[in-house]
Amino acid sequence: MKIAILGGTGEQGPGLALRWAMAGEEIIIGSRSRERAEKVAAELNAEMGKPLIRGMENPQAAAAADIVVLTVPYTAHLSTLKSVKAQVQAKTFIDVSVPLDPDNPRRMKMPPAGSATEEAQAYLGPETKVVAAFQNVSAHLLRDHQQAIDCDVLVCGNDGEAKKTVIGLVAKMGLSAIDAGPAESARVVEGLTSILIRLNIRYKVKGSGIRITGIPR
Ligand SMILES: NC(=O)c1ccc[n+]([C@@H]2O[C@H](COP(=O)([O-])OP(=O)(O)OC[C@H]3O[C@@H](n4cnc5c(N)ncnc54)[C@H](OP(=O)(O)O)[C@@H]3O)[C@@H](O)[C@H]2O)c1
Repeated sequence: MKIAILGGTGEQGPGLALRWAMAGEEIIIGSRSRERAEKVAAELNAEMGKPLIRGMENPQAAAAADIVVLTVPYTAHLSTLKSVKAQVQAKTFIDVSVPLDPDNPRRMKMPPAGSATEEAQAYLGPETKVVAAFQNVSAHLLRDHQQAIDCDVLVCGNDGEAKKTVIGLVAKMGLSAIDAGPAESARVVEGLTSILIRLNIRYKVKGSGIRITGIPR
């Protein structure tokens, strides 16, 4: 599977890239700048000791991939969606964005669509299968790719097959994924991130996460 990670030059993208590349997926780091994407890809390849990751501009990365992942700050959500709308049609699109209030990241500032995930689905249209995942997983923990992460990944979206694909991709990186329902569930999943940020501050940690109990494993 070819996976493009748009905005993969930041905090959240490289950990996803490393974990999937090590699990055998073909990864493309996307950026507004090809040079920045190539630089980060080269750094990650050096870390793994294998040339498994490439870098491209976001639209080229999206065009070359089967699955597209969005890891940009919410302030760049719509502009990045616009830049790749044509390239992601009919693909599975994993939205990791969390609409935190830029003035206070302990609070949410949800878009009129309800959540970033629903906004992406509405903007990209019904052909693109938008799935929310990884909103509640700390970049700090993801980046330490040789360490297991003690948390669940809530996955939601309106297309059952696309969700199954994403749940499989989460499992490939050694995390457990839970089907949390339709795209509408992303209102809660994205919102949980603001609570995790509060917990990180309150308990002076970098990677609080969530674990669901009471369901068969
Ligand atoms: N960090 C975490 O622990 C964490 C955890 C869960 C969810 N998330 C969510 O994941 C998303 C990414 O988080 P992050 O911490 O990785 O963000 P980040 O490091 O601040 O930014 C990621 C990348 O987005 C691109 N970007 C930044 N500003 C942009 C703009 N104005 N227009 C277009 N692209 C822009 C940049 O790539 P280029 O400059 O190379 O284009 C940047 O490297 C956010 O929505 C965040 O809420 C983060």
